[in-house]
Formats: sequence, C-alpha cells, structure tokens
Amino acid sequence: MTLTKQKLSQFAIDVRDGLSHFPKSLSSKYFYDAIGDKLFQKIMDLEEYYLTRSEFEVFETHKDKILSLISPNHERFRLVELGAGDGTKTKVLLEHFLKVHYEFTYSPIDISGDVLHHLEIALKEELPKVKVEPIQGDYFKALKELSYVHDCKEVVLFLGSNIGNFSKESGVGFLKHIGDYLESGDILLTGFDLMKDPAKILAAYGDKEGVTRDFNLNLLRRMNEELGANFDLSTFQHFPTYDPITGETKSHLISTVDQSVYIEELDETFHFNEWEAIHTEVSHKYSYKMIEEFAEAAGFKILAHLTDSKGNFVDSVWEKV
Ligand code: TRP
Repeated sequence: MTLTKQKLSQFAIDVRDGLSHFPKSLSSKYFYDAIGDKLFQKIMDLEEYYLTRSEFEVFETHKDKILSLISPNHERFRLVELGAGDGTKTKVLLEHFLKVHYEFTYSPIDISGDVLHHLEIALKEELPKVKVEPIQGDYFKALKELSYVHDCKEVVLFLGSNIGNFSKESGVGFLKHIGDYLESGDILLTGFDLMKDPAKILAAYGDKEGVTRDFNLNLLRRMNEELGANFDLSTFQHFPTYDPITGETKSHLISTVDQSVYIEELDETFHFNEWEAIHTEVSHKYSYKMIEEFAEAAGFKILAHLTDSKGNFVDSVWEKV
C-alpha cells in the first residue's frame, strides 16, 4: 500500500485530490502538454478569442508610451517576463526598444527549459541585437535570483490572462509577492481582461468550432493516456459560465450520464452523477475599480492604463511605491 503511494506521480495525486472533493475539480496546470499547447495556439487564433489580439494591439499602439513610462530618463533596465511562452507579443516591444536605442536586457522566465530554448533561438534570428538572459524555473525563485543582482531598474511583465487564472485573493497575494522582490521605482506591467458583454466572454471560452471544448477535454484524454483512466470523452460536455458581479469566468466538464471511471494508476474508481460538473479553470475579468484595488493592496502606484481600441483588455503599468 505505502509502496504504491510512493510511486504516484504528482499528476495522479492532484487528480485523486480534485476528484475526491465536492465540487470536483482538476488543476488547469495540466492543460498544457504537447497536444494542449497546440490546442491553445489554435484558441489564440480563434475569431472569438479576443484576448491575445487585444493585447497585441495595446503593445502596437502604446509601445512609445510604455517606453516613456518604464524608462523616462533613458535609464538602463531589465525586462523580466514571467511565463514568456513564445514571446510573440513581447517581440513588439523588444523591436521598438532596439529601434530607439534604449539599453536593456531581456530576461524571460519560464518553468519549461524547452520553451526558453526555442524563444532564445527565435530571438537570435529575428532580433539578434537583443541581450537575452533567460532564467529557467519557478517565478519566485527566478525573481529572488534577480533581486540579488539588481544593478538596474527592474521591469516585470505579467501578460495575457495569467493573473486572471488566480482566485481574487491569491491574485493580489501573487502581485504583492512580486513586489517583495522589487525596489521603489521598479515597474510591474500586468495584463487584465476587462468585464464586457457576457455573450462575448462566453463565446471566447466556448467557440463555435469546439476548439476550447477539445482543449478542456484534453485533461481527460491525458488521464486516459498517462494514468490509465477509462474516461469516455463523448459523455462529458464543455460548459463555460460567467458571473457579471464577480467577473469569474469558469470552465467545467459536465458528465452527461451517471457513470463510474476507473483510474489504473490510482487503482480507484470515481463516480459521476448525471450532470455532475468538474471545475477546470477560472479566468477572471476585471473592472478598473478592481484593478485599482489590486494595485493599492499590492503596494503599487498606477502610472497608466493602456487599452485596445475596443476596450477589451488593459495593460496596467504600476510603479513600486
Ligand atoms: N488560461 C487562458 C485563459 O484564461 C486559457 C484558456 C482559454 C482556457 N480558453 C480556455 C482555459 C478554456 C480553460 C478553458 O484565457
């Protein structure tokens, strides 16, 4: 018994935890295996998924303004990106900063060494003049490392809907924790998806083609493949909800039938009642008032809210007090 437990993967342990509680849940960090990464790429290209395009527009439109906010006296700075991914949006800024001859270093931080490696190669080819110093690992471990050096102004980027994937309380806690590694005058630029027409939000998390559905179902497929589970994917429905009061957008997988699923690695059977839901992801939407409260609670002063032409998305630029 104890022996089997020791051999369990973190994935198996998290799955057992999530499926043993009521309501059932699965951690969104398991969306992103190779298939999940590809599906998320497809999501970002969807007509309905306005987030990525909106933030791209913010950067295109406001790159000059961003530069004047983060380096008003032309001072040297380090651009630190938490969860860099493929850096598509950030390249807009990097290219501009080079063009106007600002002195800076780009430090993408990612848990995946593979992601960083690809990014570094791409940058060497596309923007060879950018000084890249990637740091592989956990965000806070990396920030801690940087805080020992701290030989110039730090500018931290936390883009996309990353902050939205935290609950409200842990989101504030996270931003505050970033602040612990910064000095007065350092900058934090965070992307926030704004509250908007609920129909538009629901479409972004439940597209017509069903790419988001497949992305969500990929969690079950992974469990079948990696944990020897026997989920029948056709008996689970993808269902997004939006609460216009709290701004919480949630994704669920709902069992359309009464059924039991066996997971070999756990040697355990889990029961799903007809129409019972598994919660898989939260994607918060924010009002300006909420963002102001966040900045204040985390110990920052707001320098600017930069938004796209449709007012979908805001990149909020803050200075550490
Ligand atoms: N975390 C991203 C977001 O909040 C990814 C995402 C897009 C997502 N669509 C989803 C996560 C559907 C779960 C379900 O926008």
